[in-house]
Amino acid sequence: MRFDTPATINPIDQLKVVGKPIERIDGQLKTTGRAHYAYEWHDPNVAYAYGYVIGSAIAKGRIASMDITEAKRAPGVFTILTADSMEPVKKGSANTASLFGGKEIQHYHQAIGLVVAETFEQARAASYLVKVQYEAEKGAFDLAAAMQDAVKPGRGAPDSAAGDFDHAFAIAAITLDETYTTPDQSHSMMEPHASIAAWNGDEVTVWTSSQMINPWRRDLAIALGVDKEKVHLMSPFIGGGFGSKLFLRADAVLAALGAKAAGRPVKVALTRPFLMNNTTHRPATIQRIRIGADRDGKITAIGHESWSGNLKGGGPENAVQQTRLLYAGAGRMTRTRLAALDLPEGNAMRAPGEAPGLMALEIAMDEMADRLGLDPVEFRIINDTQVDPENPDRPFSHRNLVGCLRTGAEHFGWETRNSRPGSHRDGQWLVGMGVASAFRNNMVVASGARVMLDRDGVITVETDMTDIGTGSYTIIAQTAAEMLGVPMDKVAVQLGDSRFPVSAGSGGQRGANSSTAGVYAACAKLREAIAQKLGFNSADVTFADGEVRSGNRRMPLSQAAGQDGIIAEDTIEYGDFQNTHQQSTFGAHFVEVGVDVATGETRIRRMLAVCAAGRILNPLTARSQVIGAMTMGVGGALSEELAVDRTRGFFANHDLAGYEVAVHADIPHQEVIFLDEADPMSSPMKAKGVGELGLCGVAAAIANAVHNATGVRVRNYPLTLDKLIHQLPELS
Ligand code: MOS
Repeated sequence: MRFDTPATINPIDQLKVVGKPIERIDGQLKTTGRAHYAYEWHDPNVAYAYGYVIGSAIAKGRIASMDITEAKRAPGVFTILTADSMEPVKKGSANTASLFGGKEIQHYHQAIGLVVAETFEQARAASYLVKVQYEAEKGAFDLAAAMQDAVKPGRGAPDSAAGDFDHAFAIAAITLDETYTTPDQSHSMMEPHASIAAWNGDEVTVWTSSQMINPWRRDLAIALGVDKEKVHLMSPFIGGGFGSKLFLRADAVLAALGAKAAGRPVKVALTRPFLMNNTTHRPATIQRIRIGADRDGKITAIGHESWSGNLKGGGPENAVQQTRLLYAGAGRMTRTRLAALDLPEGNAMRAPGEAPGLMALEIAMDEMADRLGLDPVEFRIINDTQVDPENPDRPFSHRNLVGCLRTGAEHFGWETRNSRPGSHRDGQWLVGMGVASAFRNNMVVASGARVMLDRDGVITVETDMTDIGTGSYTIIAQTAAEMLGVPMDKVAVQLGDSRFPVSAGSGGQRGANSSTAGVYAACAKLREAIAQKLGFNSADVTFADGEVRSGNRRMPLSQAAGQDGIIAEDTIEYGDFQNTHQQSTFGAHFVEVGVDVATGETRIRRMLAVCAAGRILNPLTARSQVIGAMTMGVGGALSEELAVDRTRGFFANHDLAGYEVAVHADIPHQEVIFLDEADPMSSPMKAKGVGELGLCGVAAAIANAVHNATGVRVRNYPLTLDKLIHQLPELS
């Protein structure tokens, strides 16, 4: 189905099932341990072997030699793969560095070997006996030092300009010119990367943990040098990803190569301490923001420059993205520069671009409001725009940032905030409130599904869409139930299998809207097929209460299915009409913090997010996405930082003891409000994404609350207590 014009009224708009807070249909499987994650697939009749990955102990240089003589003799060892004895595996389009093979070392903990043994412990023990000699080279590991030589990235982040920024900034009545930094961050999802590979002749089946099945399958086939049709991927349950599982990783490649060499199925899990340096991370940024405004608070100039680093061939962190679209102002410029670093690969992490971009921009907006003597909520509202400010002919498909800010201010009790910093004390706590806008673009991608009606009246949906903990199973079942007029227990959903139609996958917060739109398209085809089979007029056919109806004729779906059932398959594809409008999602974050006056420790007291993001397909799962994202934002504001060892070139705190993420218990009170809306330009579902929006702006709202509490303005994340303690008032 081609989505060529804005959506009109369709069966989804009945909202009998879609839009309802239905509990996860996979919830029981998960809470009872029957949902099998990648490493847990286990056939008792199969003798598995276990692979243990060896990582490079240098960040840059080459392998001089690898001696496996002793390791090979260790108990239980079947085989050992070494990088120096084979050519680098071919890269697909998605990876910057080769995942295995060759003597060249591009980053610390690059996979350079795999020991395959009868047990995991034996493989690990033998790995310590592999002797590696390196020829190390000096690398570049410090973004601040490398930024002088940063260049315009080859792709992905063009400079932008509109009006005359320099002039507008030079003559502005009130100006700000500040620099902000965000650190390298780790996805640190619950389930580490893991794969099991089993060969059958020249075909390989890989159970893995992947956000996007089809690109993985393509890249794994390229890496293994086999035809894509020979690769079967399974990833039905995933313990989080946040972008780290968007693209093929070493575990899958090594499991497949190891299984081939060992002649039996091989399991490979990347251990937690290996993840930070072997896989990808969100790159650190240095961001300079300049804003000019007239005395009434109207922005006249806005400029945003960002520097980040990556391995050669890697992309930049596009942190200026939101600044092109979020606020009005005639003089505009953005610029992105990329420095060459020899740290592990930087890549997408939840809301790449906007998440670190808003960490900077939304503090800058708070600082500007201060300088103007304006309330920070009002300052943002004054500068709202309903059109793309770089291209005023392009309106937003739907934009209610103002509604988010106003609704949030009212619900949060914003009027009780004292605008004078450091003026609210509660015992040992300095208390403050902060606000930030949330913004994330809404992308749509082609997505396919197959639906089958069987003689029991059950609808089975098959798509290679994944559920990374987001609720895909549930919203897809809701979509099919709505379209075919059946209750939820008459729908079965099968996901994450490369034999199913290619879907959007889980990424860029586009999965919910795009994948359900694909299911919508397939269900529309199934409705037609059913009507046609029965000779019903498909123009006035309706589906309700497990029946198909037309005029005064009706038939239960179980009967309509016949003995063989009815099957339909389709893909939603998007027409050009969407280019005439800018599609984005909006929100506002409100936070109250307490800062311990003696220690500088910051505690979250309460948080509120208001989202305007199209139709909410399931308020329960959407809320889970947003509160999870808000929690992630707390980590981003207060504790998360991959500490760079600038001499040796690696992330030193590579485990969850040293890399501190926020958890539920850190936040006593969280609330989410979804504004009631539907965006007819996004898809027939009229939905957009919230999974990344929920993170965008959170950290800045916290930083702004800390400023309101203490009067201390911190521009370098995370806001650890050492950055506050020396500037706090004397104890009294
Ligand atoms: Mo997201 S960073 O596209 O998983």
